Amino acid sequence: MRKEKIRLDYNNMLSSRVGDKGITPEEFAAFDAELTAAALRMEEKKANMGFRSLPTRAPEVTEDIIATAKAIQADFDTFVVLGIGGSALGPLCVQTALNHLRYNELKEGRKLPRIYVEDNVDPERMLALMDVLDLSKTCFNVISKSGTTSETMSQFMVVADALKKAGLDIGKHVVITTDKVKGNLLKIAREYGNKTFVIPDDIGGRFSELTPVGLLAAAVAGIDVKALLEGAAYMEELCSGTDYKTNMAYMDGALQYIAYKKGANVSVMMPYADSLKYFADWYAQLWAESLGRNNGYGKGINVGQTPVKALGVTDQHSQIQLYVEGPYDKVITVIGVDDYRGDVVIPNSFPEIDDIVFLAGHTLGELTKTEQFATCYALNRAGRMNKTITLPEVNEFTLGQLLQLFLIETAYFGELCGVYPFDQPGVEEGKNATYALFGRKGYEAKRAEMEAAPKADAAYIL
Ligand code: PA5
Repeated sequence: MRKEKIRLDYNNMLSSRVGDKGITPEEFAAFDAELTAAALRMEEKKANMGFRSLPTRAPEVTEDIIATAKAIQADFDTFVVLGIGGSALGPLCVQTALNHLRYNELKEGRKLPRIYVEDNVDPERMLALMDVLDLSKTCFNVISKSGTTSETMSQFMVVADALKKAGLDIGKHVVITTDKVKGNLLKIAREYGNKTFVIPDDIGGRFSELTPVGLLAAAVAGIDVKALLEGAAYMEELCSGTDYKTNMAYMDGALQYIAYKKGANVSVMMPYADSLKYFADWYAQLWAESLGRNNGYGKGINVGQTPVKALGVTDQHSQIQLYVEGPYDKVITVIGVDDYRGDVVIPNSFPEIDDIVFLAGHTLGELTKTEQFATCYALNRAGRMNKTITLPEVNEFTLGQLLQLFLIETAYFGELCGVYPFDQPGVEEGKNATYALFGRKGYEAKRAEMEAAPKADAAYIL
């Protein structure tokens, strides 16, 4: 594994490269005091941001995760994560980034359990999952910090019933990852004797990938979780200074913030690697759920930048048209890799066809990187702000850096907007409305409120 630093290149955010829609030296100067003050406040608050000390603070938990993963590898051929939001997108991101891209389908060469991350309650998906599982060889990991989330608890109830009916031991087939003291999952664990892991008090859903939330599934799939943590710790060290100009997370946050203040309400995340496709999903949740608020700048102002997930090169044939010619309301972050973990030479299969012969002899990796370069070039020519983060290679160490970079950046952007990024009041409202409609005890008033709300007018339904 190459233990190298990831890089941020923000040339294409600047007016010197993209013209007057880019950030000018005068704008940087005008924001300097604000950016510096926020970086200093981050320093004061750092001790209360649990995710910042996480990579180095609990080696004994990492050892427990590794030992548990070994036992799961020995006893089961499939590992299923049941969770949603912050309890699912991190595991999904890490699995897809670091495993073989067809990991579950590998016949030869995959000695370790198949991994599924189930983050929806679509009944067809649950039925399809059950169709491909041999329950006697499946270990489930129920992940819910609150232990009350309707989706995860419903999935668990379905699975528990299926295990019971198959005469299997819920205690042996289910690992529970939850809060240390509160919640129903602990009660269940006590009754059935499940192995449990704790999500630390000071780390919430989307900030919890590097806790047992993400690390257990990763370890079961043979991912080097210590190297993932090492990568995160390295980024933490790189981002320990308070000068935003030399701190990668603060600088990227500063660029996003200045762009936002200049009207870039949309933040596009576009990795040029299939392995990082779900990194963009993880980012979209982190950015949206942490920063979309109605109390910005302490003044009750609505703030937030809408994240958009894109994939290079695939989305060059769909979204790029909008990015190049549509409104100037976006900042585009491209994620590139120096070296793909494998490459394919394009053979000269049709020498008689002039229109495609130029491709022959190049590799698919070269083509991907050339298209990445060409996209940034087209964006520059059209005056669109874009920047590139490059991973020398996608591996545990570089992915750990990338995750920690965006966690820190999110907190910094929140600080700049004057919002608390670690809760999610807007999500809670939807959760409560579901409880009320399903008749959960204690939600009678919410149900009455919902029943009194205006009904859909048939005149507007075609
Ligand atoms: O980021 C968050 O806090 C949320 O997305 C939660 O992870 C999600 O709502 C699931 O919550 P819980 O882990 O309590 O089931």
